[in-house]
Amino acid sequence: MSRADPQPLPLPQRVFQRLDDGSFLSGETLAAELSVTRAAIWKAVEQLRDIGVRLDAQTHKGYRLAPGVSALAPAKISSLLPAETKARIEALLVEWEIESTNTRLLEALPPRAGFAAAVLAEQQTGGRGRRGRGWVAPPGGAICLSVAWQFPDMPADLSALSLAVGVAVADALDELGLGDVRLKWPNDLVTARGKLGGILIEMRAESGGPVHVVVGIGINVLLDESARAAVAATGNQADDLRAQRGAVPDRNVIVASVLRRLVALLVDFPRKGLITQIDRWSRRDALEGREIRVESSGELTRGVARGIDAHGALLVETPDGVQRFISGEVSVRADS
Ligand code: BTN
Repeated sequence: MSRADPQPLPLPQRVFQRLDDGSFLSGETLAAELSVTRAAIWKAVEQLRDIGVRLDAQTHKGYRLAPGVSALAPAKISSLLPAETKARIEALLVEWEIESTNTRLLEALPPRAGFAAAVLAEQQTGGRGRRGRGWVAPPGGAICLSVAWQFPDMPADLSALSLAVGVAVADALDELGLGDVRLKWPNDLVTARGKLGGILIEMRAESGGPVHVVVGIGINVLLDESARAAVAATGNQADDLRAQRGAVPDRNVIVASVLRRLVALLVDFPRKGLITQIDRWSRRDALEGREIRVESSGELTRGVARGIDAHGALLVETPDGVQRFISGEVSVRADS
């Protein structure tokens, strides 16, 4: 598994990583350790603040990351992975700034069949969500993870993969005591307070050939007011893991837990598909029994959500009978 980006890291990223242990470090110590001037450290700290990283500064003590903010580090993630997951990961990179982790992996050569390539970013300048929307993620306060995988042949029900990924991510959060995560079809991670995360699966495939899939996962860990407002502008009310649990777990621990389940899922998916996951998805179904509206192919349908079928299609009970949707945008009537 390759773990380090050979490019020298930008100074703000090095300062961010150095402050990761949560204790105060003076500008002088940082400058000496990173072999730069104190002015360069001051500038890097300002740059971190400008992009929204929450830092504490105290006279005579120096700087530290605000409680709950931690740096992503491939070595730390790797040390938390079981051997069978590690053996399946061909590359694991953390980028400081990137347009979109999904785009990066879609434009790269796919990993070998049966192996994963994973990219994380502290910041995305063009993070992408479903249906052409943007994805907002504050540096240090979110997880932006993409995993590339190659299936030698097109698996049956590939469109259901995103539902199975939703179950894997929700289970990973459960394992860390961040329970009560529900799934809003097709694959939003939601709580009673709002949207906690989302999944964007993209692919490249030639007919009859291998399929290069990129699974993109965004999780809100610690959103400040400006990040919440930016999410609200994209039409979603955001929730974050801090609100869910009171304290924020280390993002590296969350990533390792997600990777372990996701890699196992990708290995098994061609053989097992969604069928083994349907009950688990249904237990987390945030829409079951609720009055919803589905917008699909320019048409609006109103009805009551009745779960999913074996292929992951949404079932909606309408006055004309049960209708089935394989894609669409769902909204819930506020009073249902
Ligand atoms: C959604 O709209 O709910 C899906 C959001 C997916 C966001 C993630 S963040 C990592 C990956 N890179 C992207 O540009 N998008 C996905």
